[in-house]
Amino acid sequence: NNYVLIMAGGIGSRFWPKSRDHFPKQFLDILGTGQSLLQITYARFLKICPAEHIFIVTNSQYQDIILDQLQGISADQLICEPSRNNTAPCIAYASFKLAGLNPDANLIVAPSDHFILFEDIFVERLNFALAYTQKHEVLVTLGISPIRPDTGYGYIQYGEETENGIYKVARFKEKPTLQKAQGYLADGNYLWNAGIFIWKASAIISALKKYTPAIHDLFESGKAHYNTPDERAFIDENYASSPNISIDYAVMEQADNIYTIPANFGWSDLGTWASLHETADKDAENNVIAAKQVDLKDTRNSIIHINENKLAVIRGLDNFIVVDDGNALLIYPKDQEQEIKEVVRQMTVEF
Ligand code: GDD
Ligand code: MG
Repeated sequence: NNYVLIMAGGIGSRFWPKSRDHFPKQFLDILGTGQSLLQITYARFLKICPAEHIFIVTNSQYQDIILDQLQGISADQLICEPSRNNTAPCIAYASFKLAGLNPDANLIVAPSDHFILFEDIFVERLNFALAYTQKHEVLVTLGISPIRPDTGYGYIQYGEETENGIYKVARFKEKPTLQKAQGYLADGNYLWNAGIFIWKASAIISALKKYTPAIHDLFESGKAHYNTPDERAFIDENYASSPNISIDYAVMEQADNIYTIPANFGWSDLGTWASLHETADKDAENNVIAAKQVDLKDTRNSIIHINENKLAVIRGLDNFIVVDDGNALLIYPKDQEQEIKEVVRQMTVEF
């Protein structure tokens, strides 16, 4: 009954200009391993689930890239959205569709853009979580010990341990202010939401019904069409009218049956340039450099990505992001990188 649903429809705008609308970061070899983040993610889930039970939910625009990158995936394992409405509707649609294939479907819902160092622990914790949600109609999320007051994550306040390794969630707060995040770290009983959810399709469908009925009702009204030749027409006609909201705000902040499994598998969300900086190899001055020809002096704690056929001369930078990519150049203070998403959103032409 176990399935994996990989979400691969984001545009990764905090990773601009490497990540672009027409080719977002999950399809890029961000880590320099020769594989895209999606390919690495898919290979990791093959250790948990047979290939036929791995589905990818994405924007229709990326269908060809995915079929090209994942040889083991067939077109009917791609769940395509005609518009961008964030993660709550994509999860709702996919959950109804998978529940139609198997009413007992037990799902891992996961992002496509994470770095995981210790895959054995990752696999073990997810199998443990799947065994739990198989037995209980609850929502489970993996929790990571926070190491800085990052405002880009969800925060989980955990309560009592109800079973070995499983804690009841007292409160879930998505993307708090810096001040709140600092308070959570000081409190000590908070975890970061890894953004990897485990639940039965039936459990998330009940939660959607309770906390975001507009989304639930829209996708429930298509039940008769999923997994039939009419599915495409129904989705193309209705998907865009769904509320645009992430699952974190729509369900996780509201629900009262959330549990968390603290997990330490060397996790990093490759969501931003600074997160890549943490994960990647650094030089003696704590710089991450991807460039063939760069003359660098008096520069520290920075990320330098320069096109290989360009010579760059850089002096005197501390804590900066410098990314030169095709027709775009980004020079931005690393500690203000959360703003990049908004900067990209406000661009009037598509870059
Ligand atoms: N199919 C589809 N459609 N996928 C989407 C969409 C969409 O409209 N929007 C985003 N995604 C995918 C992204 O590609 C990514 O893999 C995943 O969903 C999560 O989206 P992000 O945009 O990266 O979310 P976030 O990083 O701001 O926040 C989430 O992840 C954090 C941990 O990485 C939240 O769950 C936070 O609570 C969490 O801490
Ligand atoms: Mg993310």
